[in-house]
Amino acid sequence: MKLIVTKDYETMSVRAAEEIAKIINNKPDAVVGLATGSTPFEMYKELIKMNKQGTLDFSKVTTINLDEYIGLSPQHPQSYRFFMDENLFDHINIDKKNTFLPNGLAKNVDEEGKTYDNMIDSLGGTDIQLLGIGKNGHIAFNEPDEKLIAGTHMTKLTESTIKANARFFNSIEEVPKTAVTMGLGQIMKAKKILLIASGIDKAEAIKGLMSGKINTSNPSTMLQMHNDVILIADEDAVSLL
Ligand code: F6R
Repeated sequence: MKLIVTKDYETMSVRAAEEIAKIINNKPDAVVGLATGSTPFEMYKELIKMNKQGTLDFSKVTTINLDEYIGLSPQHPQSYRFFMDENLFDHINIDKKNTFLPNGLAKNVDEEGKTYDNMIDSLGGTDIQLLGIGKNGHIAFNEPDEKLIAGTHMTKLTESTIKANARFFNSIEEVPKTAVTMGLGQIMKAKKILLIASGIDKAEAIKGLMSGKINTSNPSTMLQMHNDVILIADEDAVSLL
């Protein structure tokens, strides 16, 4: 794993955007795996800036997101589809037909999971997968558990994740309790993984990730088995290393 430590959140965001841009500039029809949450927020602004300046072209790019809440429609302001449209897709020259998220309204989530995984495989897999990390080490919504699931599947969010995500909702009761998430097996198929982390809240999870041990109580530790992972983290996030 290649570790790049940046001074703060802003420099982490710029550095991460450069990594994504490098992939797209080398392969204009790249398949790019994306994430939601607070961490990639500024990085998306950087990508928008590059697109507006004419140095980054999304016209042939396909994007695949990691996860979506179950029960929220794409029009719901807290759905991940809404987040992606608002924070990236509506501001760049991407063809929205080439932007994919799991369907949180699917009647049969198992079927939806299989369809999603097959779709990613039929595109030839992702060239780069962006990831954030939960305080508890979750990756996408693969929460700490005795077992982890390889493919895209339905998952229950832990109390810690529900609490962390309540900041985006009017009340904690409104946070969905389940989500459909790409599994770690599918994530590990990405040709390259870019993990970004910022802030003291993530320091414990990053310590676990870098511990040299692999365990399902910190799902991020699985990433140690991938041979092309870049972790871009700010000084706070690596403060326990
Ligand atoms: C989001 C996702 C989550 C987040 C993680 C960190 O698509 O898959 O795993 O990356 O919860 O969230 P933030 O960035 O809000 O701290």
